[in-house]
Amino acid sequence: MCGIIGIIAKDTVAPGLIEGLRRLEYRGYDSAGIATLVDGRIERRRAEGKLDNLARRLDHQPVQGAIGIGHTRWATHGKPTERNAHPHASDRLAVVHNGIIENFKSLREELAAKGHRFATETDSEVAAFLVTDEMEAGKPPVEAVHAALKRMRGAFALVYLFDGEEDLLVGARRGAPLAVGYGEGEAAGEMYLGSDALALAPFTDRVAYLEEGDWVTVTREGAKFRDMSGQPVKRRVIRSPAGGLLAEKGNYRHFMAKEIHEQPEVVGHTIAHYVDMAAQRLKPYPWPVEAGALTRVSIVACGTAYMAGLIGKYWIERLARLPVEVDVASEYRYREPPVDKGGLTILISQSGETADTLASMRYASEQGSKTLAVVNVPTSSIARLADASAPTLAGPEIGVASTKAFTCQLAAMACLAMSLARARGVLSEARESELVGELIATPGLLAEALKLEPALEQIAHKLARARDVLYLGRGPAFPLALEGALKLKELSYIHAEGYAAGELKHGPIALIDEAMPVIVIAPRDAVFEKTVSNMQEVAARGGRIILIGEPHAAEEAAVALESFLAMPDMGAAFAPIVYAAPVQMLAYHTAVIMGKDADQPRNLAKSVTVE
Ligand code: G6P
Repeated sequence: MCGIIGIIAKDTVAPGLIEGLRRLEYRGYDSAGIATLVDGRIERRRAEGKLDNLARRLDHQPVQGAIGIGHTRWATHGKPTERNAHPHASDRLAVVHNGIIENFKSLREELAAKGHRFATETDSEVAAFLVTDEMEAGKPPVEAVHAALKRMRGAFALVYLFDGEEDLLVGARRGAPLAVGYGEGEAAGEMYLGSDALALAPFTDRVAYLEEGDWVTVTREGAKFRDMSGQPVKRRVIRSPAGGLLAEKGNYRHFMAKEIHEQPEVVGHTIAHYVDMAAQRLKPYPWPVEAGALTRVSIVACGTAYMAGLIGKYWIERLARLPVEVDVASEYRYREPPVDKGGLTILISQSGETADTLASMRYASEQGSKTLAVVNVPTSSIARLADASAPTLAGPEIGVASTKAFTCQLAAMACLAMSLARARGVLSEARESELVGELIATPGLLAEALKLEPALEQIAHKLARARDVLYLGRGPAFPLALEGALKLKELSYIHAEGYAAGELKHGPIALIDEAMPVIVIAPRDAVFEKTVSNMQEVAARGGRIILIGEPHAAEEAAVALESFLAMPDMGAAFAPIVYAAPVQMLAYHTAVIMGKDADQPRNLAKSVTVE
């Protein structure tokens, strides 16, 4: 996954840029590059493959310059060639980018029509020409970046270097991380930008993190942070622990909060693994079975991964028209279920070590099924032993309660469902492209949804006083209701239940009173109106409704709501990926308000390697 570094120093920065990039190698990459200013002009060196290739290029063609930017690229749009490697440049600037610019196609067409000549297949290049265009229209660099930021959609981080500007880097964060480092001692007056504190570790441990939507101008004198509207904001400089990434919480109080906020970035990376972003089509997936011959699919998992399986069932059944069974692994392994020889069993696991899931995989395999592992840890037992793997690229998840691994599991399941549908000939190219478009929008929508945090914190104050909470949803929002209840239970120890909204009248309606909050998860989908009817049933009995839905949902529901959380407008196909964020934040804040340990809830383990 792409890594970013930027340095303003007293003398040659190239070795420092390479050093910083080495610290980012853990993110995975397939090409790398740097740009510096030599006599005020931009000089670039880029190379395909490992950093050593770039270092060798620099041995042969050294580059001077006391200001520069560097990048490790993990290809999403366009092949990992030298031409597509960052930094991208125009005659005015160079830029490095991590993430996805969702509306790059329309921006690219607009800019190309104005005469800008694109040299790569990447989405990132529009970030170069958008700013160039603003500068050509007379704006100074900082204003040009601000204007361009307003036009780019998606989840990303950027750092710009300008021709003729020996003392200026401009960085921006929207959905992907970026930090500013402050040199001290011998390096006083030197300034740095990096994807994380690890990249900055060789130079400084004094770090300030950009908050969502921030952008920053960095000079030798320091850093000026601004929010999206351009208002100056202060960001605290902290000492980042030398222990590196695993001990690194950034600006967050808990790993869980950090991991919730990483979702736009890591969901984007996961999608990019399965999707050709530029073509807006799926990459071919090597199915370990003849997809057309399948008569059903089994999914087996535990905990939150099981909830991802339940949502995956809706998607596979709807898109690939295949029946799907979902089991918790501890039941599956002892039930001796009949298994289709040559059939397909999908195991979902963050750790890849959960004992019951591993045993279920062995059972399915012994019975003649092919196994496919949706796993976050690529070296884990489940990943290694499965016939095929479908990675999630969430990165290390430290918080015991799964968050970013869950949304990455959903992103992978969405891709697998579409891919199965294509392989079975039941999804047209046009529909595939539409669906992929909706999926590519989810990281940007997640970044939007994360801005609802203050409103969710308010609601969490109410939940913190409740003894029981009911979560309702229909369609794929039903398993998300189960996940919401699970999250609240495990983090705050408040009793919570998730229910299919339509089942309300078959039991839980008896519980409705003025004491129990009812959280309704209602994306704008084909069953939205049915969910509205269920809300009316709750309202008629004086229930306390907290609605999570799109802007007009409250109006359309026409019932008295205790709270309404207005989500961004979105397509219905993969809405649970985005709706997961408020559900997670509600549980997190309730736990924090109640003084519970959100990262290590009592009695729970991250990786359950015993039965
Ligand atoms: C534990 C964790 C959960 C996780 C479950 C399954 O219960 O606390 O967050 O969802 O195990 O773990 P896995 O690693 O298989 O996804």
